[in-house]
Amino acid sequence: MSSVVLIGAQWGDEGKGKLTDFLARQADVVIRYQGGNNAGHTVVVDGRTFKLHLIPSGILYPGTLCVIGNGVVVDPGVLVQELEYLKREGILTDNLRISETAHVIMPYHQRLDEVQEERRGAYKIGTTKRGVGPAYMDKAARTGIRMVDLLDREEFEQKLERNLADKNHLLGVYGSQGFTPREILEPYLKYADQLRPYVTDTSLVINEAIAAGKHVLFEGAQGTLLDVDHGTYPYVTSSHPTAGGACIGAGVGPTKIDKVIGVAKAYTTRVGEGPFPTELLGPDGDHIRERGYEFGTTTGRPRRCGWLDAVILRYAVRVSGLSALALTKLDVLDDLDTVRICTGYRYKGEVLKEFPHGLKALAECTPIYEDLPGWKQDITSARSLEELPPNARRYIERIEELAGVPVAIVAVGPGRYQTVTVTPIF
Ligand code: GDP
Ligand code: IMO
Ligand code: MG
Repeated sequence: MSSVVLIGAQWGDEGKGKLTDFLARQADVVIRYQGGNNAGHTVVVDGRTFKLHLIPSGILYPGTLCVIGNGVVVDPGVLVQELEYLKREGILTDNLRISETAHVIMPYHQRLDEVQEERRGAYKIGTTKRGVGPAYMDKAARTGIRMVDLLDREEFEQKLERNLADKNHLLGVYGSQGFTPREILEPYLKYADQLRPYVTDTSLVINEAIAAGKHVLFEGAQGTLLDVDHGTYPYVTSSHPTAGGACIGAGVGPTKIDKVIGVAKAYTTRVGEGPFPTELLGPDGDHIRERGYEFGTTTGRPRRCGWLDAVILRYAVRVSGLSALALTKLDVLDDLDTVRICTGYRYKGEVLKEFPHGLKALAECTPIYEDLPGWKQDITSARSLEELPPNARRYIERIEELAGVPVAIVAVGPGRYQTVTVTPIF
């Protein structure tokens, strides 16, 4: 019996989908607990690629219960589409449960996300424009609409009308078009009927599973540095991708969590705006982008690429209490003569070992690198630590030393089984 939280240790896209799918083989329940369809999680099984935005990456196993927790913001149209997509692919979806207290992304949230990004001009965040930020704003402002409200026609109509008065005014101020209640009501009531069978008290479902001694896996979205409290604010998302988010976003107490695994790429990437100390703007960055196919799963944007940053890993270990790391995409570095790890930052003549919170300071930090020899060998068929070349093992060991936690899993390719288990998670 064990409850494991799996989070992104960097800026998202670390390979959480692949790892969740890999571990879900042993899990009875897999839960998404924050974010929305800003997430794009890729799972590759037997040459088939699945891109998931809202449904947990455990869905490919018919025996695994998949839960969309209360902390997720749900775009019901996107969820219905994702269910249809999976059905077309022959995947059973009757094992899905959706929290009745998850907030609903409304069409005005998505439009506001677009308009507000445009108005930010040079200060734009580079959001995915899926309405995620504005939906969390309404949740905090106590004007949000939850799944349970969507399922109650009268309640929904009332809340929609009240909210539209405000949102249409706001959209008008921004010079954008508002919505009539009818154009939202009709499709949303249809989604309500399609989603109704899945909606339940998911905190109860999860806690009962834990009490029954089941293996439970919490699948984070985004990453540590996109956390609204712990990330590179304001260049963050509006939720808590760090481990604490799992408790709030699933309705589970911290005493029920046994392990926290941080997924980290063997290098660093970032989508959207904001500082990125180890970013490589020249041919080295292009090499990583091409070899790692670093283009956004959700928006298709090219990802910014750079060397591995151990300051970030140590920070992720601290704010999420990581038990271990899962290191992904090590194979992307196969060709390199030298691999570099950032061990600290130089800032105004000083050496920083901890991640600074002032954005201006972070932007002025220059990385201090340690160079290690590359392994110049294809590692994609390695299935044990012993099958990895000595220089690749040396790189992993150095990461463990610098991060202060062991590496429990190494991913050497996108496929489910292109995975080296150093220490079993369940
Ligand atoms: P997530 O958002 O954390 O789930 O990550 P994404 O799915 O957005 O991006 C990770 C990408 O890397 C996907 O295309 C995966 O198929 C791919 N991937 C995951 N692990 C590995 C790996 O070890 N090697 C390689 N080459 N690709 C990987
Ligand atoms: P997964 O789960 C990488 C980034 C956006 C932007 C910022 C805010 O696939 O790792 P938002 O739309 O959330 O308001 O955008 O967060 N972002 C992600 N970057 N992976 C993700 O998800 C992301 N979800 C949001 O690019 O910089
Ligand atoms: Mg992704």
